[in-house]
Amino acid sequence: MRVGMLTSGGDCQSLNATMRGVAKSLYKMYDDVEIIGFKDGYKGLMYADYTIMKPSDFSGILTKGGTILGTSRQPFKLMGTPDENGLDKVEAMKQTYKKLKLECLVVLGGNGSQKTANLLRQEGLNIVSLPKTIDNDLWGTEMTFGFQSAVNVATTAIDCIHTTAASHGRVFIVEVMGHKVGWLTLYAGIAGGADIILLPELPYDLDIVVNALRERTRQGKRFSILAVAEGAISKEDAGLSKKELKEKKKTGLVYPSVAYELGAQITEKTGQEVRVTVPGHTQRGGEPSAYDRVLSTRLGAAAANLINEKKYGYMVAIQDGEITKVSLEEVAGKLKTVDPDCSIIKEAKMVGISFGDE
Ligand code: F6P
Repeated sequence: MRVGMLTSGGDCQSLNATMRGVAKSLYKMYDDVEIIGFKDGYKGLMYADYTIMKPSDFSGILTKGGTILGTSRQPFKLMGTPDENGLDKVEAMKQTYKKLKLECLVVLGGNGSQKTANLLRQEGLNIVSLPKTIDNDLWGTEMTFGFQSAVNVATTAIDCIHTTAASHGRVFIVEVMGHKVGWLTLYAGIAGGADIILLPELPYDLDIVVNALRERTRQGKRFSILAVAEGAISKEDAGLSKKELKEKKKTGLVYPSVAYELGAQITEKTGQEVRVTVPGHTQRGGEPSAYDRVLSTRLGAAAANLINEKKYGYMVAIQDGEITKVSLEEVAGKLKTVDPDCSIIKEAKMVGISFGDE
């Protein structure tokens, strides 16, 4: 039996741990299983760039960040557009799958990759997918692998900023990844003891943010830390249409990101010194956390079970602490965002964290 495997989209710390979970389970179930590893995600499937994996390839990788297969971004919206040589990408992927006589394709990926996985399912391929992303924004699973490891890195960044912020009595903004959602910022912000947390799901009011900072000064606090999601947006901007926002960005001062814009606005309004820290891709780097190693192992084993039962067209998931499966059809194209009324935000507000919204 031949099983194809690929890792797609932005990497994370727990991809290898997850592939190991799938592979070790399959090798234990079957004497004759051969795993074909496609290089650099869907690109490897398109251009038939692959290696025949050995069981030893999956040993010693539980703690290793990144992906032994390599990855790349192959946007879903461009799947219907031929490559520079006129190659039909979807057709090419189907051909590789057929030529290699694969029983199924195992896809480790985030939102865009799940959409492509669903497209390939619609095209008749047997697919089992696994929920990867540091953003935790995949619908159908309460947790994605990679998220908790990234929370640890972002928390450490905020911890480190704490000591220097305290020494200098400065305002610090730590910009946290997460694409369009605020999960990573919410968790790292709380874990790192941020004073203000700004999320895309709760547009902020600059005056409220400034008042929260003034209040801290009034209380004799020498410094403040803001954990700001890369997708955070002001109430004013959230009220604009996409077109209007684009126009506004053309006319105003151009900042590298929201954290820098906010930093300049805070200095202008308060006269306080503001420093911006962007941990960026460090949040995807390093080794997987213990939580992720366990989640990856569980999800990997569950994916192997689906293959064993020939149940295709599903993404393995975790719901209420239990490993389960969700159909790709349901998952594809849906974002799991932070509910502004969720209890964790209420609890964070109770301990005095401002979300800049009220
Ligand atoms: O989806 C994971 C993620 O790290 C996001 O948090 C971030 O917005 C994006 O990928 C960065 O992408 P790239 O690695 O392509 O710069």
